[in-house]
Amino acid sequence: MSNEAANCITILQSVFKTNYGVPELYVKSPGRINLIGEHTDYNMGFVLPAAIDKAIYIAIGKRPDSEIHLTAADLNESFSIAINELEKSSLEWPNYIMGIVQQLMKGGYQVGGFNAVITGDVPLGAGLSSSAAVECATVFALNELFGLGLSKLEMVKLSQRAENQFVGLQCGIMDMFASMFGKADSVIQLDCRSLDFHYSPFNQTGIKIVLLDTCVKHSLASSEYNVRRKECEEGVRFLQGKYPAVASLRDVTIEMLEELQVGVNGKVFDRCKFIVEEIKRLQDACLNLEQNDLVAFGKKMYDTHEGLSKLYQVSCEELDFLADVAKGNPHVLGARMMGGGFGGCTINLVEESAVDSFISAAELAFQKAFNTNLKSYIVSIGDGTSVISID
Ligand code: GLA
Repeated sequence: MSNEAANCITILQSVFKTNYGVPELYVKSPGRINLIGEHTDYNMGFVLPAAIDKAIYIAIGKRPDSEIHLTAADLNESFSIAINELEKSSLEWPNYIMGIVQQLMKGGYQVGGFNAVITGDVPLGAGLSSSAAVECATVFALNELFGLGLSKLEMVKLSQRAENQFVGLQCGIMDMFASMFGKADSVIQLDCRSLDFHYSPFNQTGIKIVLLDTCVKHSLASSEYNVRRKECEEGVRFLQGKYPAVASLRDVTIEMLEELQVGVNGKVFDRCKFIVEEIKRLQDACLNLEQNDLVAFGKKMYDTHEGLSKLYQVSCEELDFLADVAKGNPHVLGARMMGGGFGGCTINLVEESAVDSFISAAELAFQKAFNTNLKSYIVSIGDGTSVISID
């Protein structure tokens, strides 16, 4: 067990003991990065995520009644509710857990009362999918605790529904898939339409994955996310008039985009253009990866950033600034904003020998430009959701 994992388990043990006694089970579910393929998941395209070595941990045990009692150790907050009276809370974190319970009940699974404590070292609000990690940890733990017999894929789909229906973010499937199915040293090439996937080894020799966290989360994040989804759907609806077989932007060719340009407003066109290009870009980037050509791969990351910023308009000043800092550094192979946008991190592929100087230069420049500090994380690619055995 890593030091971080051991620390988290110690916290869980102690907080659980104080509040509820002895847990029956510990589960770990990681955060994720995504190398390329952004906003393509809900457009039925491809994504290239991986689980990271930072995770959410949950300790859980049954209760004799039908209530759920929860504690977020790091926030020092507790929450409890009867299982048949679930209702959205103004504390954000219990909603991820309640969303899972609600979906399990909807699916006819027998879930009883339980106590749970969560902790973790996934930075919150940094675009590393701490929420998906909470959902996956919860569903995995409840599946074990109550012997529900769900497969990993069923748990992923259920977590996505929890986020869509209870939390209210119309997210795609990428975050949950990566958290649940992650594999050390591999990226996941996921086809979000068929859900076929395979692991590709990600050769990190001489390269580090550096995340620069702007520490900002603009309030637009979730409302604008849902708007982007609608804009993409509008483009699809227009094209369906002439091409009934087009079910999503995945089916749209570069040539069809020309027809779209005259039929929808400029904004909708730009959104669709980005997605169609990004789906193609990811496929080309996967070939670069197969040939171990991280230089070509990195260039595509910069192109993705450009598209996310100009066409899809989900970046922000701070992210654009950090992408530019990276671009000006010859030791950075590629960089871009990552995840839903409007804040969070940039992901940077950096030559190992230049990591320290890159981070210090970025910190300094960021401080000068925004009068605030950024955070940095060097991450490695880890395994997906699992039970942690103690002793
Ligand atoms: C968020 C969503 C994902 C995905 C990304 C953008 O992380 O939860 O489903 O759409 O944004 O790629």
